[in-house]
Amino acid sequence: MKKATRQHFFFHGELGRDDEKKNCHFCQIRSFATHTRFPVTIINTEDNAVLDPDFRFVDRSILGNGVELTKKEFLTGCECIDGDDCQYNTCNCLQDVEDDSSDDDDNAAADEKSYRGKFRKRTYAYHTHGAKAGRLRSKILASRDPIYECHESCVCPQDCPNRVVERGRKIPLQVFRTTNRGWGVRSTVDIKKGQFVDKYMGEVITAREANGRRAKSHIAQRKDVYLFALDKFSDPDSYDERLRGPPLEVDGEFMSGPTRFVNHSCDPNMRIFARVGDHADKHLHDLALFAVRDIPRGEELTFDYVDGIDDSDNDALDPKMQKDMTRCLCRSKNCRGYLW
Ligand SMILES: C[S@@+](CC[C@H](N)C(=O)[O-])C[C@H]1O[C@@H](n2cnc3c(N)ncnc32)[C@H](O)[C@@H]1O
Ligand SMILES: [Zn+2]
Ligand SMILES: [Zn+2]
Ligand SMILES: [Zn+2]
Ligand SMILES: [Zn+2]
Repeated sequence: MKKATRQHFFFHGELGRDDEKKNCHFCQIRSFATHTRFPVTIINTEDNAVLDPDFRFVDRSILGNGVELTKKEFLTGCECIDGDDCQYNTCNCLQDVEDDSSDDDDNAAADEKSYRGKFRKRTYAYHTHGAKAGRLRSKILASRDPIYECHESCVCPQDCPNRVVERGRKIPLQVFRTTNRGWGVRSTVDIKKGQFVDKYMGEVITAREANGRRAKSHIAQRKDVYLFALDKFSDPDSYDERLRGPPLEVDGEFMSGPTRFVNHSCDPNMRIFARVGDHADKHLHDLALFAVRDIPRGEELTFDYVDGIDDSDNDALDPKMQKDMTRCLCRSKNCRGYLW
């Protein structure tokens, strides 16, 4: 930390030194709107390494060249005046949620027989009552279903229960130096199963730009670590042309939030979910990290980098190939041995 600390205390704010301020990681994270309540901190008690000075902390994704927001006239939200209505399939924001009558909790009991003549079924992704309110239901947690939330264009109030990712990170995160895997991330508070942790942010770039960056990187798979395709709704038959072509990708290598430093585990404590706000923005869906089990404060946060990718061929790898692969150091009982 020494170099970064020196840079911070001696140079930033000096006349003509605005660049220093811009390049200072502490100044970047201190400018986050949530800084006083849920700070991001950086700590290294292992060695003298500092974060790459070219890396920039941001608290929202940055749209790259050729990536545009949907025009205002195409945005639509729900018209629920009472936020409680945003838990039922009568809310426009939940119109795409697949109807599934098997349920894992009290939601079925809370379905309503009649609402303006319609049967209302609770379909939203979160628990509604008690201590678990605001946490992802286990059925969703165990699935690969996208999460549909209320958003800016909705009439419902800010405290609508279906705005969990929308309201942003609610826990402090610490980027810390691990003993053997570079930087990692943990929280200084306990996290509960189903709780939203943070989004994976970065530059949102076109597929062409992403491929260009892969080609430039001398180890393509290393670049892939930072690239996430926004492909949850990709469909060659979609009526929305933005969903028909190759998906946009999020590159967190140079600009991102603290989750860019989260390491891989073969037995992870978080998973990434596609989260949609405005239905016209499906091609720009969020990547939201949720805890899949209770995580005590201080435990390193992890997710599975190859979640959902079939690696059944790995067992048959010949030793020559294994030589070029990166060993996984996650130390979990079911460790697959290699990252890639
Ligand atoms: C997205 S970065 C995570 C932050 C990284 N540790 C750092 O210091 O910037 C991914 C890189 O972290 C390292 N890494 C993450 N998980 C690992 C694991 N389970 N075993 C070994 N290395 C890991 C690898 O070098 C990988 O390329
Ligand atoms: Zn609604
Ligand atoms: Zn709502
Ligand atoms: Zn809504
Ligand atoms: Zn492993």
